[in-house]
Amino acid sequence: MKILGLSFGKKNANCDILCKEALYGAKEAFPDAEITFINTQRLHIDRCIGCGACSGALEHGKDNDCIIKDDFQMVENQVREADALIVAAPVYVLQPVGQYKNFVDRFGCRHDVSAINWVLDKRRTGEMPGDPDAFPLERFKRRTVSYISVGGATTEDWTSMGTAGLHLLGFPVMMQVVSNYNANSMGTVGNPYLDQDLIDTMHEIGKRTAQALEMDPKDVEYYNPKGQGTCPVCHQNLLMVDGTTTVTCPICGIHGTISIDGDKLRVEFSEAQKARARGTFAGLREHTTEIQGFGAICGPKIMANKEFLDEQMKRIKNFDELINA
Ligand SMILES: Cc1cc2nc3c(=O)[nH]c(=O)nc-3n(C[C@H](O)[C@H](O)[C@H](O)COP(=O)(O)O)c2cc1C
Repeated sequence: MKILGLSFGKKNANCDILCKEALYGAKEAFPDAEITFINTQRLHIDRCIGCGACSGALEHGKDNDCIIKDDFQMVENQVREADALIVAAPVYVLQPVGQYKNFVDRFGCRHDVSAINWVLDKRRTGEMPGDPDAFPLERFKRRTVSYISVGGATTEDWTSMGTAGLHLLGFPVMMQVVSNYNANSMGTVGNPYLDQDLIDTMHEIGKRTAQALEMDPKDVEYYNPKGQGTCPVCHQNLLMVDGTTTVTCPICGIHGTISIDGDKLRVEFSEAQKARARGTFAGLREHTTEIQGFGAICGPKIMANKEFLDEQMKRIKNFDELINA
C-alpha cells in the first residue's frame, strides 16, 4: 500500500504538521505501508495554458502528456502511484493556495476517467488511431483520499471555499473521499500541537483513509467529526440558489430541493441525482458527451458566420491600435 502525503503549505508549518500527523495515523494502522511525503511550496508547478496538446495527443494515438515540463510531472507520477492520499493545503483568500489550483488544472482534465475511456473506445472501433491496450489502465485504479484545508481564521466563513476547492483534485479520477476537514484557527506555526483533539482527528483521518482501501467502497463512511455537510455526495455546505426551491451543489453538479421544516432548512437530493454527481462515471460521462457535442453545435455556426467573425476578431487582435485611435 502506497500512501502519499502532499502539503501545499510552508515547510514544517501547519499543513505539513497536519498532513504528517495523518500519515503517522495511517502508518500506525498499516506498519507495512510505504509512505511518501512531498512539500510542494518550493516546487515549480506552472499553470495550464490551455494549449490542448494533451487531449490532442490522446486523440492522435499517443499518451496525453502535459507539454509544460516542470515539477508537475514528479508530483503527478507520485499521485498516479499512490493508493491513498492525504492532501493538505492552506487557505489563501478563502480558497486553496494558487499552486494547488495549478496542479489540479493540469492533473484533473488529463485523468478524467470518462474522457480517456471515450478515446479508448474510439481506438477499439478504429475511429481514432492508437492501441487501446497500450494505455496504462492502472491510472484508473481505486484510490482513497482525505483533504485537510488549513486556514488562519477563527471563523469558518473566512475559509468558506477551502474544503470545496480541495475536493476538485480527485473527482475526475474518481478518488473516494474519506474525509475533507476544515482546520481553521491555525494562524501560528505549531498551533495544531496545542489541540490534541485535532491531532487525534488527523490520526483517525490517516487511519481511515488507508483502511478504506481494504473495504468495499459501499461500506466506507465519510468521516468528519465537524459534521456530514449538506451535500450527501461531497459533504460540502455550499449551494447554488436561483430563487426557486431547486438548488444545485456547485461541487457535484447535482440538483436538490429545499423546504422549510419549522426553523430548519431541509435539503434533499434524490438517488437519481446522487448517481449523476460529477465524481461518478455517469457524471463525468455527461460532461464528455457535452464536450464532444460542441463541434456539432459550434462548427456549422462558425462556418455560417465566418466572414463576420473574421471581421469582428480584428477588433480583438488590433485592440491596442483601435482603442486609442
Ligand atoms: C496570502 C495569504 C492569504 C491568506 N488568506 C487566508 C484566508 O482567507 N482565510 C484564512 O483562514 N487564512 C488565510 N491565510 C492564513 C493561512 O491559511 C494560514 O496561515 C495557514 O496556516 C498557512 O498554512 P501553512 O502554515 O501550512 O503555510 C492566508 C495567508 C496568506 C499568506
